Order: sequence, then C-alpha cells, then structure tokens
Amino acid sequence: EKGGYEHYMRKEIHEQPTALRQTLSGRIDLDRGDVDLDVDFPQGYLESLEEIQLVSCGTSYYASQYAARLLEEIADVRASVEIASEYEFDGGRDPWRTLVIAVTQSGETADTLSAIRRAAGAGARTLAVTNTLGSSVTRETNDTLFIRAGPEIGVAATKTFASQVVTLALLSVAIGRERGTLSTANARTLLENLRTLPGAVQQVLDEEEHVLEAAREYQDSESFFFVGRRYGYPVALEGALKLKEISYDHAEGFAAGELKHGPLALVSEQTPVLAVLTAGSDGSETVNNLTEAQARGAPAIGTVSDGLETKSLDWTFEVPEADVFEPLVANVYFQLFAYHVANLKGRSIDKPRNLAKSVTVE
Ligand code: M6R
Repeated sequence: EKGGYEHYMRKEIHEQPTALRQTLSGRIDLDRGDVDLDVDFPQGYLESLEEIQLVSCGTSYYASQYAARLLEEIADVRASVEIASEYEFDGGRDPWRTLVIAVTQSGETADTLSAIRRAAGAGARTLAVTNTLGSSVTRETNDTLFIRAGPEIGVAATKTFASQVVTLALLSVAIGRERGTLSTANARTLLENLRTLPGAVQQVLDEEEHVLEAAREYQDSESFFFVGRRYGYPVALEGALKLKEISYDHAEGFAAGELKHGPLALVSEQTPVLAVLTAGSDGSETVNNLTEAQARGAPAIGTVSDGLETKSLDWTFEVPEADVFEPLVANVYFQLFAYHVANLKGRSIDKPRNLAKSVTVE
C-alpha cells in the first residue's frame, strides 16, 4: 500500500508530479488563454464580485496565503485570508458580493466548517476547495472545486498543499479572464508556467540525496528558522510547520524582512536559516537578511533560481524556472528536509504525537 516507501509522507511527497498533473488535467485551454473549471458561477457574478475571503487552518491556511496573493496579482480582485478559528464575516452592504472560500484538504475541519457556516448565514456566496469527494464542506457551500491530489494518508499535508495552490491559481485565471483584468497573453504565460510544474517538482525530487546530506548535517540544531518574502513567505511558514510537526524540533517561519525586528536575537550557530530566494520572492533582498544571520554564525541554506549570487551560502538547492510558482516548487525541498530530519531521529512520521489527520473539534 505504501508502494515500497517506508512512510506515506515520503510516498505522497513523491506523488506530487502526478497529483499536479491530475489537478491540471483537462482544465487548461491554452488557445483561448483560459481555464475550464467545473464551477458555474451565476451569470455576471464574477464581474460584480467585490472581495474574496479565504478561510482555512494549518497548511491549508498557508496555501490560502499564497492564493490570496495570486488572486490579487492575477485577477486584480481584493483578496484576504483568515485563520478559520479567528474568522468573523464582514461582507459590507451586499454580502453576496463577497465570495468566501473554505480551503480544506479533508473537508471535515471543524473550525473551517464553522467559519463557512457563519459566512453563509450572513449571506455570502461560498465555495469549497477540497480534496475529498462527499466531505462535509461540499454540503455546506454553494460550489465545490476539487483539487484532485488523490488520497493523502500522512498527517503532514504535502501533495495537497501544492494542489491547493495550483487549483486556486487556476481559479485566479478564471476570475481574471471573466472580469477582463487578465489579458490572453498573460493568461497563457501563467498557464504555461503551471504546466511546467509537474516536471519542475520532479527535478527537485531527483535532488533528494542532496537534501538528505543537509538533513544529516543540521539535524541536531537547536532550532530552525525559515524565511521568505512575497510568495516565499507562506512557504517559509509552511516549511517551519512541516518540520516542527514531524521532527518535534522547534521551527519558526518569518517574513524575511522581520528577522532584524526581533528574531535575530535568537540566531546562533545552532539555528540554521532556510530561505526562499527564488523568483516571486524578492530573493536578492532576502539574501541580505540571510547574510545578517550568517554574520551571527547561523548556517544559511537557500532555495535558489537562476541569476542569484549565492556563493556566500552554506547550502543551495536549485529550483527550476516557474516565475511566481517557484516558491511552490522550493517548498518540496522543505518537505524533503523535514522528512529526512524526522526520519534520522526515528520519529513517527505518518502519525506524529498529539496530532490527527482531520481535526473535527473546534
Ligand atoms: O483538512 P484541512 O486542510 O482542513 O486540515 C487543516 C490542518 O489541520 C492541516 O493542514 C494540518 O495543519 C496538517 N497536519 C499540516 O501538515
């Protein structure tokens, strides 16, 4: 059942190229520079849309942060994201013009269900983005968009993060096209980049040995910091969550620019800093923040793409070109790093202590 893998988590990390192909399958129309999603918004709804609010928890929350930026940049629509357990609906004068999207792999997360109920109760239009056919969230929302990642068994969400972001990227294109804010040419470029992702993720998976070496070198560190800007910021948060949840080591993600506003006080030889330095993440500015950490002794590990000066880093992981989706590809290095640190420590990777795959209490 684990197909020769020791853990579901590693199997699911390696399934990402396939999962992403499924997510994209039959949805891209390059000729028109548009997408076909199986969601039918009422005639004129997207044009009259005022705001999108994404609600979610944990890894799905970080996928939502990535997506909110995509929605703003691609579709030019106001998009905000809120942790489901903190969410209060405010839909202005016409709540129906706010689209509230519940992003949940399982479709059963109690906090997310309760947030979407509050929004629906106040008159918002709702959409579920989920991996699970027939899940509770699909019965609570006006529409559902499936991410089609295939079953995910490991408690740590991996392939579903990638498929959530890609599904919401497709939705951003659909909304941008419908509202007339995204040109055919720009849509085509985005869609072409999306189509390269399965191959790009495979290239990262082929570097697993290199990640294992880094995991060996740094596994005994006191604490791990992850930093990034723009699309790299949610990926830094996600990288830290993955590592802490399965290795039980302390890990924290920061906006790279925030390091100097406090966290730098914690930095030492014992705190490797892992950074997203790719396109879509203002890598050259983040390198400066990383250098400040390095000056205090911290090992600097960068996920990098072409053209960035990285000679000073202690470790580099190469990310293939994919524009704003490069941080999503870089995330696969963080998944592998978390996996190998936890595995070297003999942790219970698929069922970490104190955690459940779907959290059905508030
Ligand atoms: O099923 P959901 O996407 O709603 O789950 C949300 C979180 O509970 C989940 O992402 C959790 O943070 C994962 N264990 C992270 O790996």
